[in-house]
Amino acid sequence: MSLEREAIFRAEWVCLGHAGQIPLPGDYFACELAGEPLLVIRGNEGQVQVLSNVCRHRANLVAQGTGNRQRLVCSYHAWSYDLGGHLLHAPLMQEVAARLAKRCDLPVFATELWQDFIFVNLDGQASPLGPRLAPFLPTINNYGILGRHHQFVGHEVWRTNWKCLVENFMEG
Ligand code: FES
Repeated sequence: MSLEREAIFRAEWVCLGHAGQIPLPGDYFACELAGEPLLVIRGNEGQVQVLSNVCRHRANLVAQGTGNRQRLVCSYHAWSYDLGGHLLHAPLMQEVAARLAKRCDLPVFATELWQDFIFVNLDGQASPLGPRLAPFLPTINNYGILGRHHQFVGHEVWRTNWKCLVENFMEG
């Protein structure tokens, strides 16, 4: 499993959800990939980013579940970040945080939207996803996937090896 984590889930593009889950600036959902807590969020300019959900102060989760925020405030000691993960305020530690500058921002992971699906690459080394998936476009174009409205999210836990699930859905 640790080999799969490193060679697949951290090294490759993985789909986290659909852009329709976070249509408005400040919309977010929290999730986890390969043990990495993530925050998928839409910024003020409409861009979708995947941020680390680990507070740079004492590693508390910055946000949980889903919601809409104009700034992200950690519930432990109230460090606050803007929608791009930049540290805005560190109560009682502002001087230290200012000196550490960008090291106190939430890390941003490589993110790509493809047909409105949100993909992340944790190690940042994967080649761009769009060109790799371009050969599939002629096959799926007539499904009109781009621009569809998102309806709901379902969560299920399958007590099986994840590869059995993937293989099962490959037929479809
Ligand atoms: S752990 Fe987030 S503010 Fe302290």
